[in-house]
Amino acid sequence: MSARAAATGSVNLGQGFPDVDGPSAIAERAAAAVLAGQGNQYPPATGIPELRQAVARHQQRFYGLDYDPDTEVLITAGATEAIAAALLALLEPGDEVIAFEPYYDSYVANIAMAGATRVPLTLRAPGFRPDLAELESKITGKTRLLLLNSPHNPTGMVLTRAETEAIARIAVDHDLLVVTDEAYEHLTFGRPHVPLATIEGMRGRVVSVGSAGKTFSFTGWKVGWATGTPDLISAVRTTKQFLTFVSSGPFQYAVAEALALPDAYYTDLAADLRAKRDLMSAGLREIGFGVYQPDGTYFITTDISPLGEQDAMEFCLALPDRAGVVAIPSAVFYDDHPADGRTMVRFAFCKRQEVLKEALSRLSVLGS
Ligand SMILES: Cc1ncc(COP(=O)(O)O)c(C=O)c1O
Repeated sequence: MSARAAATGSVNLGQGFPDVDGPSAIAERAAAAVLAGQGNQYPPATGIPELRQAVARHQQRFYGLDYDPDTEVLITAGATEAIAAALLALLEPGDEVIAFEPYYDSYVANIAMAGATRVPLTLRAPGFRPDLAELESKITGKTRLLLLNSPHNPTGMVLTRAETEAIARIAVDHDLLVVTDEAYEHLTFGRPHVPLATIEGMRGRVVSVGSAGKTFSFTGWKVGWATGTPDLISAVRTTKQFLTFVSSGPFQYAVAEALALPDAYYTDLAADLRAKRDLMSAGLREIGFGVYQPDGTYFITTDISPLGEQDAMEFCLALPDRAGVVAIPSAVFYDDHPADGRTMVRFAFCKRQEVLKEALSRLSVLGS
């Protein structure tokens, strides 16, 4: 879709990357690291100590979680590698993994790579809330792991504290491991993110995953992390050893500084995205889209049926020519129940306000 956006001169609201880089002081720190020879050669296998300490401090500062930077924090090539390494480390062929559908695309691939079986817990419009009775009913003797994502891409659903506690209870009752993809932990618009690891009884069974790309708007740097008990993290590290071994040396120094940015950085990031969400929700609604307002992430899911459209795939393929805008048909994230996403389209709103306004102005041809 990004290639199609470039070829047609369309406004690209498909792929989720910000069109403004993160703080320039942090970019300068990365440049300084390169010039000073920091991280230009293989960094330590678990990540540089400064970054592991910064991740541990971040978990303490925002969530009151205590992790030992030497044994309980692992730096990865983005959240993507942390998730891949965790799933490959913790799953055996034949294990079942329950995950929210629609799925972030790498989950489907990683579960298949591990030889495991994915079991969907489908999030349905309008609220996209997980049905926790259904979750429990899907657990079998083969269920090994829950793969959670909140704030959730693509729906923007953010689990409540009560839901998080209920999931924790289920994990304990059925002795399950949990991998939590918290890439959008700071991108919430009201309801704060509650890490599952903060719930009593969870620390020993959760691998929590974060993303500097999402939190600091440097998606190309591919710096992420996993936190968990020494046993879990050592299993993830052993797998990571043979995926990338290490990555992003100089960027690790910059991310260590970024994590220590004052609270204002984090609140401004969320406030900026909230304003963009409101702009897009109102604009898309006015054009005639059904809008499912997200509580987090930088994606907004819409329903095109009020526009008289029935097939989001066809709609999105034609959209660059019809309106000069690129968006993603949500059916691509519904691997098991594509019919649930048939009329849904996802727009990314991590773009400058003028870009979003231009997209809305172009999309207004659909409503006329
Ligand atoms: C839910 C989710 N997890 C993980 C990632 C990837 O994060 P990273 O770029 O840090 O690998 C993304 C990126 O879009 C995402 O949406």
